Amino acid sequence: MTETKPSVNAAAITLPEPAELARLLGVAPQTVRVHEPHLFVGDARPLIEYTAFRSEDVLSHVLGSGWEKSKEEIELRALDGYFVRVPVAKLKQHRAYFAVARADGSPFMVDNPAQQESNLPLGPYYLIWDNVSDPALIRDGATHWPYQVSTVALRAPAMHSLLPDGIAPAYQRHAELAQKYCLSCHLVNGYGGDKMPINLADRVKRLSEPAFLTWVLDPAAVDAYTAMPAMAPMLPQAEREQIARDLYDYFLQLPVHQ
Ligand code: HEC
Repeated sequence: MTETKPSVNAAAITLPEPAELARLLGVAPQTVRVHEPHLFVGDARPLIEYTAFRSEDVLSHVLGSGWEKSKEEIELRALDGYFVRVPVAKLKQHRAYFAVARADGSPFMVDNPAQQESNLPLGPYYLIWDNVSDPALIRDGATHWPYQVSTVALRAPAMHSLLPDGIAPAYQRHAELAQKYCLSCHLVNGYGGDKMPINLADRVKRLSEPAFLTWVLDPAAVDAYTAMPAMAPMLPQAEREQIARDLYDYFLQLPVHQ
């Protein structure tokens, strides 16, 4: 393959149908066994086998092989407005796959108890990670496991939105936490996902710290039927609380635009 330089300004690319992708890549998808994080309850770590393409094959095909050398992020968008940005560095460090089916032929769906949803269709593409041979990934739970993915793009990190002028550089870590845990569904001043498009820079300033902490750590305590998942359920409680307090501090500091 010739090396091309993918551009961070290029339009997002719609992934071809799985059968067409197999033809274009010249490889059949393989069976990949993962601990399915959407099904983590208590200490249960159910194993599921998916049929999947290696992420490096898919990304090199659609973006050009130069994506691997960049310090950018891969943006994956789902049909329902959910969006995830995964740092290229994480994709280089761990094994990710684009799943297209269940290996045992059962429907390509999953339950998502954290968002009160069952029989969720996963296709056309579901980004999965080999957290069986790489158990460190279990800590991330379902973060960076977007389903119904239809488009892929290379993007520059959005630090101009997340760390605008006037915010101390020490908040970079907080901005990264917000991106990882919140901005797949919510916005900060226009940047983020459209699943629940509220501007956290604005909305959080109208919440007390205890109210915010409850939303983030235990949304079901606010509304038993909420579609908001609890943040980072796999992390120790003390660490979750620290992250939530840091996020509150960060959203209070952020200026509001739009
Ligand atoms: C998977 C999508 C998703 C993620 C990730 C997510 N949220 Fe939410 N959030 C929602 C949805 C959906 C609602 C609306 C819930 C409802 O009304 O029951 C919501 C509601 C909220 C509310 C209440 C808004 C209001 O005033 O009505 C706050 C505050 C909030 N989210 C903050 C956060 C923060 C902070 C994070 C990151 C730690 C986060 N959310 C991560 C989907 C998400």
